Amino acid sequence: MTSQSAQGYTPTAKILHWTVVALLIVQFILGWTMPHIGRNTQPEILINTHFSIGMVILLVAAVRWIWRLRQGEVEAPKDTPVWQATIARVVHWLLYLLILVVPLLGWINASWRGFPVIMFGIEFPKLIGTRAPGWGWTGDVHGLLANYAMLILVGLHVAAGLWHFVVQKDGVLQRMLPDRWVR
Ligand code: HEM
Ligand code: HEM
Repeated sequence: MTSQSAQGYTPTAKILHWTVVALLIVQFILGWTMPHIGRNTQPEILINTHFSIGMVILLVAAVRWIWRLRQGEVEAPKDTPVWQATIARVVHWLLYLLILVVPLLGWINASWRGFPVIMFGIEFPKLIGTRAPGWGWTGDVHGLLANYAMLILVGLHVAAGLWHFVVQKDGVLQRMLPDRWVR
């Protein structure tokens, strides 16, 4: 298999990247508009759709992890200062971690609340028993990681991409765009 580092991002890596971006936009809109979930909340359409899309994100994230571990790193352009390459690497791994941990915590919390997690007709098993002692925090941490950690890191990540495009003009942003837009 040709390694990614020699070639830039493969079309598969680009599709996976932009699929997650699109799903996350929908997922945040759902997370913010669905009813606040409390003890007596019944699952309804927005909540169930949040679960469905969240499980799709989890599956795509798992595929991305496997893909990334097999393909290796796309190296930073040659004259990138070490500190910049290091920050980029750390932020990328934190984003990879969050797109796995955030939906997993959501799934654990939905199980804890006794809500069925159904992804477009496919029912997933409950990860823990309803109201299992010691698991109530998962909902709060799910929301905090999504609303703060993820959004702050994505903000940094997007700002860095735009800085490369507008100020550095070094083609880094274009590495993640479809080839036909760039050539
Ligand atoms: C990357 C994927 C996901 C993101 C970005 C996300 C984001 C969010 C956001 C922004 C909220 C509202 C938090 C607040 O403002 O209070 C929320 C709540 C919630 N989400 Fe997700 N979610 C994701 C995946 C999932 C999945 C897969 C499930 C379940 C299968 C899930 C279940 C829940 C539950 C149960 C709540 C209510 C938690 C509580 O308030 O106790 N989420 N999510
Ligand atoms: C408009 C929004 C976004 C833009 C413009 C963007 C742009 C980019 C670019 C240009 C790269 C390649 C960096 C390089 O060549 O060194 C990249 C990589 C990456 N992006 Fe994004 N991104 C966006 C949103 C997101 C989101 C929402 C996530 C996930 C939460 C994400 C996760 C990643 C990861 C994990 C990598 C590293 C890929 C790898 O090298 O394995 N991105 N992004």
